Amino acid sequence: MTKRTFHVWRGGGEDGGLSQYEVEANEGEVVLDVLHRLQATQCPDLAVRWNCKAGKCGSCSVEINGRPRLSCMARMSTFEPEESITVTPMRTFPVIRDLVCDVSFNYQKAREIPSFTPPEGSEPGDFRMAQADVQRSQEFRKCIECFLCQDVCHVIRDHEENKEAFSGPRFLMRASELELHPEDTADRRKISQEEFGLGYCNITKCCTDVCPENIQITDNALIPLKERVADRQYDPVVWLGSKIGLR
Ligand code: SF4
Ligand code: F3S
Ligand code: FES
Repeated sequence: MTKRTFHVWRGGGEDGGLSQYEVEANEGEVVLDVLHRLQATQCPDLAVRWNCKAGKCGSCSVEINGRPRLSCMARMSTFEPEESITVTPMRTFPVIRDLVCDVSFNYQKAREIPSFTPPEGSEPGDFRMAQADVQRSQEFRKCIECFLCQDVCHVIRDHEENKEAFSGPRFLMRASELELHPEDTADRRKISQEEFGLGYCNITKCCTDVCPENIQITDNALIPLKERVADRQYDPVVWLGSKIGLR
């Protein structure tokens, strides 16, 4: 057993601040274990969101020493012995209290993505997909909706004013999944560019770096979607067709 120094955000977004605690940490523990010990021993009113403690529910997202991470997957053994550990709520979303954010922005953006649109009359079981198409969807479906990618993306992290116009990587990935799906009939290129803010993404790949499921968000979802949008915008035949109402 060792004592570790934790700085934990307490209070709301505007009126909150960091409080320092000396707290016990044991071999094999993760940051969430230590936060639970803080609740049990020093601050029973500490607000922490969590559920599975197995990296699968996406509830325990926070920032640890400034990096967006799942607190249940952040091993204490990865920090230097004398290093103090700072835990703050996700910066991009409004703080409700302590480490808990209001992430309803993300649910709003999810609702804006038009749902899967198979051809009219298509019955379940009619369609056969190539294995490569199945695998592409499966990669995106590993998402646990932790919203760490949404939190880290600079387009909204530092620019509250962009939230209206930008869906964020998680939902652009969903638009891409559907756009690349061979059975989906909707054209999602225009809406992705004009309403979901695909053009704001300048491929910094920070979203991919923080994804706990190692989904290649930028390379496998955002860049292919950008390529499709570019085809639509810059192919002269497609451009002319769109002008005269053929596409
Ligand atoms: Fe979390 Fe990755 Fe899903 Fe983004 S894509 S919400 S980082 S699991
Ligand atoms: Fe943001 Fe990811 Fe693009 S971090 S800028 S959505 S590559
Ligand atoms: Fe479920 Fe951390 S508690 S992902």
